[in-house]
Amino acid sequence: MDSIDQRVDQLTVDQKEATALLDSVNSQLGTLSSTVDSAKDVAQNPVGTELRSKLSDVETQLAEAEQKYTPAHPAVIALRQQRAALLAQIAAQPSAVVSQTTVAPNPLYQSLQSQASTYRARIQGDAGELRALQAQRRAYRPTLSSLPQQTIAFAAVQEDAKRAANVYDALQQKYSDALVAKSTAISDIIVVSPASADAAVRSPNLRTNLAIAVVVGVLLGLAVVYVLDLIDRRTTDRDFTALLGLPVIARIPVLTTTNPRMLPWVQSLTLEAFLHLCVTLKLRNKRPLKSLAILSARRGEGKSTVAYNLAKSLAALQPGILLVDADLRQPTLHEKAGCGNDVGLNDVLRGDAPLEEAVQHIAPGLDMLPSRGNEDNPVALLQVEFEALLEKARGNYGMVIVDAPALAAVSDALLIASEVDGSLIVVSADRGTERDTQRAIAQMGMIGVENILGVVVNRDASAAADHYGYFAKTNAALTAGPA
Ligand SMILES: Nc1ncnc2c1ncn2[C@@H]1O[C@H](COP(=O)(O)OP(=O)(O)O)[C@@H](O)[C@H]1O
Ligand SMILES: [Mg+2]
Repeated sequence: MDSIDQRVDQLTVDQKEATALLDSVNSQLGTLSSTVDSAKDVAQNPVGTELRSKLSDVETQLAEAEQKYTPAHPAVIALRQQRAALLAQIAAQPSAVVSQTTVAPNPLYQSLQSQASTYRARIQGDAGELRALQAQRRAYRPTLSSLPQQTIAFAAVQEDAKRAANVYDALQQKYSDALVAKSTAISDIIVVSPASADAAVRSPNLRTNLAIAVVVGVLLGLAVVYVLDLIDRRTTDRDFTALLGLPVIARIPVLTTTNPRMLPWVQSLTLEAFLHLCVTLKLRNKRPLKSLAILSARRGEGKSTVAYNLAKSLAALQPGILLVDADLRQPTLHEKAGCGNDVGLNDVLRGDAPLEEAVQHIAPGLDMLPSRGNEDNPVALLQVEFEALLEKARGNYGMVIVDAPALAAVSDALLIASEVDGSLIVVSADRGTERDTQRAIAQMGMIGVENILGVVVNRDASAAADHYGYFAKTNAALTAGPA
């Protein structure tokens, strides 16, 4: 069908071309004459000849008359006049006339005509072929339109044939089995007790099957959950370790206040992680960790939550902890601790209040130095006095935990990080702040702060699955409220 269409297109083009050529030839033919005068036969003018013979007669008579008569004789005068008249007539006659014209056909006209007929023949030929092709196309159309049905029918027939072949094979197999059975059959079987339908099990045992289904379903479900959890956990850890080039030392689940049973997780997790951290640090550095900053690239990643819970957990183990809210712009720690912030870090740094008076006792073994916030120039204040404050706090307490502002926003946090013995970077797993965290870590490296101990992944979905079993029964509240 495609080739027919193609040919039809070719012919249509050819026909158009021939028609155009024919038109041009026809217009040329219209301007030409069909014949040309090829030759002319020229003969003596017979009238002239006759006049000349008359003239010679008259001249002969005149000569005779002149010999006989005087020039004034009337006969001589008459003859002279006759001769003059004849001469005049002869002069008026053409000496020769065209006796015959041969007309020949115009060769250019003929060639154009032959071209025209060639074109006409071409047009007719094309038209003929076009008609034939169109007829062919009409003849093919029903066949073509029935092709899909034919293909389907053919496939169905093939399928039937295959099925029949399978049935045949199966029957063949059965037949050969029967032959074997027949040849090996024990012929002398005696029926002792005929089979009875009553003794047979009438239906499958629904209860047993249900029980099996439930057990298998539960086991399968647990297996899937376990595998998914393994994969998820590995991805999270590996991702942050690879992304930030730091060890992930704690993973904190999303805490929901509506489910208090989940709250102790953060305590156990951070405490466990922190103890692990302390041991690691001790083994590695042989240097006591007396001050620790909690950092993050952005606000809301969980610095204050981690700092508060970490301080509380640690105080329970090893009293003598000071928690410092070093966010001099928008502090929140006093809200978590449920205490006031009328006097705070701002006043101590300025020298307006001594450290001992500014701190508040918020839990056994745990004091807190809140922040008043709205500080105009925290960098200047921290730069000058923070080191001295830390020095003093280290003397009074076993450990100082500093809740810092976000690294990406201001340079306060960089200053704080540069003064403490170690820092932790909190990354919220659901905020997409990995790049910011990378940048913040790089920035710390650039100014020579090399004390990052590791990463705390906050709001980590995979951490929940891990610890649910261990801490589900504990009811001690630990979240963002006072204990
Ligand atoms: N793991 C968590 N699960 C649920 N809520 C959290 C979690 N960590 C932090 N939050 C909440 O997110 C908000 C911001 O946390 P916060 O610790 O104040 O962040 P940052 O100090 O880094 O700005 C607070 O309301 C806090 O209660
Ligand atoms: Mg905070």
